[in-house]
Amino acid sequence: MSRPAFPALPPGFRFGAATAAYQIEGAHDEDGRGPSIWDTFSHTPGRTLGGATGDTATDHYHRYREDVALLSGLGVDTYRFSIAWSRLLPEGTGPVNAKGLDFYDRLIDELLAAGIAPAVTLYHWDLPQPLEDRGGWRVRDTAEAFAAYATLAAERYGDRVQRWITLNEPYCSAFVGYAEGRHAPGAQEGRGALAAAHHLLVGHGLAVRALRAAGARDVGITLNLDRVHAASDRPDDRAAHRRAETLHNDIWAEPLFAGRYPAYEAETWACLADGPWRGRDDLTVIGAPLDFVGLNYYRPICVTAAPHREPDPEQRTAVDIGVAEVDPYGTRHTTMGWPVVPSALTELLGRLHARYPRLPPIWITENGSAEADTLTSDGQVHDPDRTHYLADHLRAVADAIDSGVDVRGYYLWSLLDNFEWARGYDQRFGLVHVDYDTRTRTPKDSYHWYRDLIVAHRART
Ligand code: FCB
Repeated sequence: MSRPAFPALPPGFRFGAATAAYQIEGAHDEDGRGPSIWDTFSHTPGRTLGGATGDTATDHYHRYREDVALLSGLGVDTYRFSIAWSRLLPEGTGPVNAKGLDFYDRLIDELLAAGIAPAVTLYHWDLPQPLEDRGGWRVRDTAEAFAAYATLAAERYGDRVQRWITLNEPYCSAFVGYAEGRHAPGAQEGRGALAAAHHLLVGHGLAVRALRAAGARDVGITLNLDRVHAASDRPDDRAAHRRAETLHNDIWAEPLFAGRYPAYEAETWACLADGPWRGRDDLTVIGAPLDFVGLNYYRPICVTAAPHREPDPEQRTAVDIGVAEVDPYGTRHTTMGWPVVPSALTELLGRLHARYPRLPPIWITENGSAEADTLTSDGQVHDPDRTHYLADHLRAVADAIDSGVDVRGYYLWSLLDNFEWARGYDQRFGLVHVDYDTRTRTPKDSYHWYRDLIVAHRART
């Protein structure tokens, strides 16, 4: 397979790479770090593939210098990483852990010395366990605690961090964590998940306020909004499509960018739509103006109507919206089982742009593919499928920009192979291969391609 041509992005377009704390850091009980819901979840038998945990992960906590050198070799403008809340505040609130603060000081300074702009995600799914024990995102106190943590981080790092992302993919926190139970905390609740979705949004809004009060300038949120297709034009499929749009997209985008709750929430969640967790001023808090919105995109979804489970008026067991996913795309799949459909990214960007006049500039904050990588006898990793995936998706971004969508930059997921949540270490998303016996890092072919793309972009623009 040949090397794909470099997609042409406009002058000023920025290139980056992304990671998240629990997926790479390891050192789970070192230097005063407190446990998070992901420590508890991954240590519970049966929750992750093969019982994998993030206890050591890629050992980035000890090897961060080597990882910054890899970023530097890649030539990226910016690096997106997340702070582990329970390193700074082991209890989630209260006493501050000085050694935890120091770690991110060292990382940020190392990045700046390499000329790489730090972009911090405050919450990439690792809620301090003591907060979960008091109700987690089901309760409003967690949103308040999140804002206090945001203040601490911004006061400490605000002079050096260029870009702040409050939450990563609140969809996954709320629905994969509290409804499906495939992610921490592993709950299967209807009410709890919808309350969590709301409190995540409130927490985001309060954190935006806190960040701005501490002087942060480039503030946004990362969402995994989806391009949802309907399996057919049949009325039941169209209704299923509306419900899926509500669950995946409208629940986040409407309050954030249009100042309202989703139009079809009543038909999607029946009696739970207008839950008692909503406060009178919440839409104002949630809708605080943002400097950018981060989008994570991997694949589209296509839905068809499915029978609802026996209706439980309280939906106490799990969120069931009467929808099944189908895969009509007929394309290659990554090892995650995800269809590769770059055009859906162009569609998604265009639709958001058309629908929300108040949409801030967009950053792609994650995009990448998991492939069956192997270290070959020449000591290399030849991963042409990943390189093609990246080229095709960057071209899809360029197409959206050409049609008028304001996309400022792209963070590739991920710098390193890492702990892929419930899928453990089997899914390799990295530009850099990690040997989990020795933690040796080996740049893959895609790493060299991305580096050359960045060089070519700078030379051309
Ligand atoms: C996203 C997550 C990220 C990573 C990718 C593959 O949903 O934000 O941490 O696991 O998927």
